[in-house]
Amino acid sequence: MAKLGYPFTLGVASGEPLPDGVILWTRLAPEPLHPTRPGGMPSRAMTVRWEVAEDEAFTRVVQSGAASAQPDWAHSVHVRVAGLAAGADYFYRFTLDDHVSPTGRTRTAPAGASTAPVRFGFVSCQRYEHGYFTALRHLAGERPDVILHLGDYIYEYGKPKNPGPGRYVRPLESEAECTTLGAYRNRYARYKMDADLQAAHAAAPWIALPDDHEVRDNWAGSLPGDGSSPAAFLKRRAAAFKAYYEHMPLRVRPSGPSLQNYRWRPYGRVAEFVVADARQYREGRDMLGAEQERWLVARLTGATARWKVLAQAVFFAQRKFPLEPPSTDAWDGFPDSRARILAHAPDGLVVVSGDVHNNWAGDLRADWDDPASKALGVEFVGTAVTSMPPATDGSAILAANPHLAFFDSHRGYVSCTASMDSFQADYRGVAFVDRPGAPVTTIASFQVKENKLQRIDL
Ligand SMILES: [Fe+2]
Repeated sequence: MAKLGYPFTLGVASGEPLPDGVILWTRLAPEPLHPTRPGGMPSRAMTVRWEVAEDEAFTRVVQSGAASAQPDWAHSVHVRVAGLAAGADYFYRFTLDDHVSPTGRTRTAPAGASTAPVRFGFVSCQRYEHGYFTALRHLAGERPDVILHLGDYIYEYGKPKNPGPGRYVRPLESEAECTTLGAYRNRYARYKMDADLQAAHAAAPWIALPDDHEVRDNWAGSLPGDGSSPAAFLKRRAAAFKAYYEHMPLRVRPSGPSLQNYRWRPYGRVAEFVVADARQYREGRDMLGAEQERWLVARLTGATARWKVLAQAVFFAQRKFPLEPPSTDAWDGFPDSRARILAHAPDGLVVVSGDVHNNWAGDLRADWDDPASKALGVEFVGTAVTSMPPATDGSAILAANPHLAFFDSHRGYVSCTASMDSFQADYRGVAFVDRPGAPVTTIASFQVKENKLQRIDL
């Protein structure tokens, strides 16, 4: 049998940190963009070895084992490592025959009693053809404890007929829109070959949440968003979620068109990440579905950590536009769902979101139209890694929404540090994305004081 080419072309990743373990990920793909055989792999299972060590040179290996890479799952590998120490750095790698993967650094969640500060970054909206993932490289350099990805990890679109300036900076693997499993797989492979994206995965564990473009623009519940029927769309959603799982360090597999995205990740006494899925269970005027909403309210009211970080994809606060109606794809389209959640807002509520390709920050108000009403927490909306921002009149929107305090149109990421007595968010921006090598600067920094934003003078 012909010898397999280098199989670790898509890098390595880790995710879903618990105090005693993480998920380790890789996928075998010697020819990542092969048009018919996923990854250019033979259609049989292969055994991959993995190692976890305390040091980057692998002189103190603490665990190792073998995992089967199955053709049905595009030869992806998801290793569930347990029995590690809490709040500790580890290094991991995979081997297959003589081939050794790049080394990843990961970190377990802290123990339940830990009061050590928690450093995390959050990102969203990385449209490959719109630019270079330089922001992810800078985030990797910060080596946060954990990285949250809030959706639009890929975009399903094909090449536009006449792409405007900055809209087709680097070529996709195919000019067609993704609708099939094979097409989604190769779209992920295209993204995963990016060295900056690989660096961000190799730097820290991720907690990832899909939004609409992992499947299709503006889908909601069982509806594709283009007026067509749910039956064909649910097949497409199943293919899209399967490809998402095959490329992400997740704990659970999708089941047909369903993927369990809402989950709770405690980080000691300092922070709890409550991840909500504001896409899959939408129905009518209901954003989360009854079951998830019950779960979320119980998580928020039962939370004991200092900061309750509600991680979800779309703009949460009210956002009035001077000339247009509010977005029906964000929480403004689901005001009753939002009000029911805010009725249970715990002290220390911090909502983090993405989707809109601009930076925003604001207070969450008991009555949006009364700036003197009670502050119920804050929201930090992170910009895109690369996706082109829409034309947005930031100052007019700020004027129409007194609870919103900050607008900025850089692309980049948000870096947060939570401790027992403070929460700080630093908005990092890159100067350009249409070529590699942009420097990063801190655009603005905020702290949370008494459930309200406070800008820090830089
Ligand atoms: Fe997006």
